Formats: sequence, structure tokens, C-alpha cells
Amino acid sequence: MPTLLFKSEVNSAHDWKQALQSTMPELEVRVWPEAGDRGDIKYALIWTPIGDVLHTLPNLEVVFSLGAGVDHLLQQEGLRRDVPIVRMVDPALTQGMSEYLLFHVLRYHRHMSEYVVQQRETRWQQLPQDVAHTQHIGIMGLGVMGADVAGKLAALDFTVAGWSRRPKSLPGVQCFHGEGQLRTFLRDTHILICLLPLTPQTKFIINQHTLAALPRGAWVINVARGAHVNEDDLLAALESGHIAGATLDVFADEPLPASHSFWGHPAVTVTPHIASLTNPRTAAAHIVANIHRHQHGEPLTNVVDWEKGY
Ligand code: GLV
Repeated sequence: MPTLLFKSEVNSAHDWKQALQSTMPELEVRVWPEAGDRGDIKYALIWTPIGDVLHTLPNLEVVFSLGAGVDHLLQQEGLRRDVPIVRMVDPALTQGMSEYLLFHVLRYHRHMSEYVVQQRETRWQQLPQDVAHTQHIGIMGLGVMGADVAGKLAALDFTVAGWSRRPKSLPGVQCFHGEGQLRTFLRDTHILICLLPLTPQTKFIINQHTLAALPRGAWVINVARGAHVNEDDLLAALESGHIAGATLDVFADEPLPASHSFWGHPAVTVTPHIASLTNPRTAAAHIVANIHRHQHGEPLTNVVDWEKGY
């Protein structure tokens, strides 16, 4: 049952092919553009948009996303509503995201960004050490990744709140939902984490109004999509000191252009969309498990809901 694999940005097609075939030896993996007879292809594995190819696969049954977010994939030409799209949900990907977020929350909480500056200036100054419980972490987006990091932050004794489109309930996390509760959620958030899916409703959700709703001196961490943030509004909020700093892993324009002011901004940490990278070795198990389900006529897991957009 041939599967067509489209190159991902980070991992080579070779790594994916090897990982898939060691998990499921009978899977025939063809790497684009070597598709062979296109009528054979039942599954397509895609990360970035691939042009007008899907139209040419008449027997395609499932599209697998090689990444967690599918906003760009939904823009892909030739997707048919009757061909399910499966999101990448892999415990290793979730763990990687939580590690990145814990690292930056702890960095802000323990004043590491200030101490780095002090070292550069050969300045010895002890800053107050707050207890974790007094630090309010607000997570926008309580999907698999949001829920995981929320639990891990709560286990470290931070005060954790979450905000999502629909009501959710998570142990140890104060959950807010919908437009009506957004301001209340933001009001007490010292460190804001964005893990939302990108949809028309969440585009530019971090803007002058939501930033102004955060307490003065708050920090912002965006690991979702660049388009969640109005970059000019964030720069203005950093300039005024209302926002103390930001850690940004994703940008409206990627790679972040060399001329962008985020690069040299003293209060901004830039990383190149690496908060959590899909690892073919662990992710292959998720894809193969779904292929097995599909072959046995069982429901697929983590199927994208077109209406919700994720
Ligand atoms: C990365 O951004 C992903 O969606 O996996």
C-alpha cells in the first residue's frame, strides 16, 4: 500500500522513509517527486504546501500532517473534504514543547535574562527571588500541548490558568473560555504562552488590546504561529515597557528577515521555529498506528475538523 512522502523542512526524506519502514516494513514509501503510478497512492505525508499535486492522486485516502499545526496545510490546493487530514500528535513532540516552555518560564521566573545582561556589564546584583506560586502563567490553547505544559507548570507550583475557545477542565488549572472571559484571564497573567491553533478567530489575537489587558511587566511567549501576534503592537508594548520581554519562536515571515527589529531587540529572544521539532523515529509510530486503524476500518485519531480549522 504505497505512501507518498513529501519532504519536510528539517528531517530528510531518508530519515522519514527509514523510520516509517522500520515501524511498518510492508509499507511502500515513495518520496516525491518519484511517485510512480499515482493511482497506487493511498496515503500522503505532507508538511509544507506542495503545489497542485493532490489533484493527481485519484485514490488518496488519508493525508498525514508531519507537523502539529495544520493551518498552512488547509490552504493546500486539491484537498478534498472527504479525505481526512490527520494532525501530528506525538508524545515526544508534546514533551519537546513542554521542555521549551518550562525553560523559558523558568528563565523569566529566575531573572536569567537580567543576569545575562548583568554578566555582560560585570555587574553583581542579586534580584528578589519570588516563590513560584506567586507567578501566574496563562496558557492560550489547551489542546494536547497546552494541557501537558499546564500540568507540568502546576507540578512546579506555578499558578496556572488556561484559555480556550470552548470550556475545558484540567486538574490544578483555572480554565477560562471564549471571548467573554479573555480579559479576566489576561488580567492576572504574568507570563503569557500562546499555543493556539491559527484560525481566522485567533489571527492577531495578541494585539494592542490584549497586550494592554496584561499586567505591566508581563512576558509573552509565542510558540504557535507568527500570525497570532500583531508584531507592531508587540514592539510598541515592549517599547513602552508595558511588556517586559518576549520569546518568539514563530514569525509572520519565516525565516525572520535579517532586517527585522526582533533580531537585535534587547527584550526579545528569537528562536528559529524549533520549540518542538517532529522526530521521524517517534512520529512514525503515530502515523503507522493510524494506517493500521484505517486498514482495519477503525476510526482514525487526531483527525482535523474543517469547521474548527484544527
Ligand atoms: C510546527 O510548527 C508544527 O506545527 O508542528
